[in-house]
Formats: sequence, C-alpha cells, structure tokens
Amino acid sequence: MGLSIGVVGATGAVGRKMVEILKERNIPVDSLRAFASERSAGEKFDFNGKEITVELLTEEVMKEKFDYLLFSAGGGVSEKFAPIAAEAGNIVVDNSSQWRMTEGIPLVVPEVNAHALEGYKGIIANPNCSTIQMMVALAPLHKRYGINKIVVSTYQAVSGSGHKAIVELEGQMKDESYPNKVYPRRIAANCIPHIDVFNDNGFTKEELKMVYETHKILEDSNIEVNATTVRIPVFYGHSESIYLEFKEEPDVKEVKEILANAPGVVVVDNPEQNEYPTPLEVANTDDTYVGRIRKDLFNAKALSLWVVADNLRKGAATNAVQIVEAMENMNK
Ligand code: A2P
Repeated sequence: MGLSIGVVGATGAVGRKMVEILKERNIPVDSLRAFASERSAGEKFDFNGKEITVELLTEEVMKEKFDYLLFSAGGGVSEKFAPIAAEAGNIVVDNSSQWRMTEGIPLVVPEVNAHALEGYKGIIANPNCSTIQMMVALAPLHKRYGINKIVVSTYQAVSGSGHKAIVELEGQMKDESYPNKVYPRRIAANCIPHIDVFNDNGFTKEELKMVYETHKILEDSNIEVNATTVRIPVFYGHSESIYLEFKEEPDVKEVKEILANAPGVVVVDNPEQNEYPTPLEVANTDDTYVGRIRKDLFNAKALSLWVVADNLRKGAATNAVQIVEAMENMNK
C-alpha cells in the first residue's frame, strides 16, 4: 500500500518543489493532499495524472490520518499546526526554523545523521538551507580530521525568501523603479549582507542558525562557527566560501577522495580548466557540489573550499523527501 502525504504550503516556492520531488523520486504516494491559505485554496494542479485541489489549512484537517505531512508555510503556521498534527499521530517534516532547536526534535540531514530518526514519531525538523549543504560537505571531513573552526560566508539566492522574492528580482531587473518589498535594499545588481533579523550580538538570525544547527547535527558544540550570510541577485542555488581549521592536518588529495566518495557530494575542482561549481549550473540538481579545495597559506591545519547546492531542492524540498525515504527504509 502506498503512502498518504499532505503538503502544507503546497503553493509556495518550496511546497511546489516538494510535490515535484515526490513525483520525481517515485515515492509511492497513494493519496496526495495540498494545503495553503484562503489566498490559494481551490487552485488545482496535476499529480501523476490526478487532479489535486488545494485545500484550506485548518486545525480539523491536521487531525486526520496521514503517513507524512511536509510543512513549508513559514514558522507561524508550523508553530500552530505542526503540534496538532503530531498530537494526532502524524509524522511532520517541518521546513521552517520553528522547531529546529527544540530538544528532542531531530534535526536531520539524511547523509549525516539519519540515525536521529530511529524509532522516532512526531515533528522532524529540516535544517536551514545554508546549513544543509555545509553539513553534507563538512561532515565527512569532520569525521576524518576533526573540525575546530568554521568561517563561512554565504551567497544566497532570492528563492530562499519565497516566491515573492523571485518576482521582486525579476521586476527590478527589468524596471529600475520597481519597489523594495521583500528586501530592505534593492536586490538587482546588488548584494545585501542581511538575512533574517539582527540579534543583539550583531549576527543575524540566519547566521546563528548556521552556528547552532551545525552543533546539533554534528553533535559537537565545541566547533567554533563564524558566519556572514549575504543575499545576492541569483534566482536558484546558494554558494558558500568556507574556511576550516582542523585538529589534524588535512591532505588535499585525500580531502578530494573523501568528498568524491561522500554521499550526496560531487567534486568539481579543476581550476586550470575553469571548472568549479556555480549556482547557475547546479540549479535543478540534488547534490552538493564542492570545488576550489586548497590548503591555507599560513596554517597547515586549515583549508578553504567552495560549496554550492540548489537551495530549494537539497536545501529544502529534496532533504525533506529524503527524510521520508529514510524513515520508510527504517520501517522496512
Ligand atoms: P498561499 O498560496 O495561500 O499564500 P512562499 O514561501 O513561496 O511565500 O510560500 C508560502 C506558502 O505557505 C504558500 O503555499 C502559502 O499559501 C502558504 N501559507 C502562508 N501562510 C499560510 C497560512 N496562514 N495558512 C496556510 N498556508 C499558508
């Protein structure tokens, strides 16, 4: 028998990808239901030849029986509706930041810590998009050399702010007078060192997510993480410049081998051929791409690398669907 799956926020940038990826990965879905607000309830779309009508999200409907509910409708919706669904015995995979740091709630990148799902039922948190791709690339290196410190700067696509941000960048690329609605500055032909709200310590919430989610996923809160998160005028695909200090001296050739053999990682690193990952090429794929791997000039135990992944796919929808796959494999 197939699965009954509900997607909450099914009309959004990530929700649409979730539906697409369920199809693409041949998840055996018997019944798919789609939920959103009154703005788009009643809209219709095709899923494997069946017409699906978007339903209004209500408390009552979350109490019905689903095998999995995939949430991507913002923190407020997850705060209110995910506990109702979980209380009713449903497994929720939540893409918002609402439950990520709550003790007892697994925060999972399947390539890294699928073990956190064993025997679990309830709300499961999907990590932040920038954290996911960083974990896929760094977990195998942490295992081999032990990471002491991570300094990361991100170059994040507008699709991470939802569908309206895609519309804003498109609008501003065509029209200089298009207003700033989603972002505090013009995003076209610019970059903005500000993602999510500022904290009293000078870091943004997005930057702090990268710190504390890393600690939770790698189960090591001794790793020093310093993040600067930046929005750039790219539609799809987040890039990250990462500097790492290890306990043991890494060997570049071995690092490339470890990464080439790591699940979900593709190494593209031939600078002499101008080969390195870029978001335009990586968009619409599910892997995490690593290039520009090089030893630091001053610290023998440090190296730098460049990591790119599709933020809507591996950074959100694909990771959520992989959590479903991991749970199903454990139940077999
Ligand atoms: P709607 O289409 O009805 O606005 P994005 O991240 O691309 O902006 O998408 C957000 C998703 O979350 C959309 O599917 C949106 O539905 C949904 N959503 C936002 N607020 C609510 C709400 N209060 N109840 C249900 N769905 C919501």
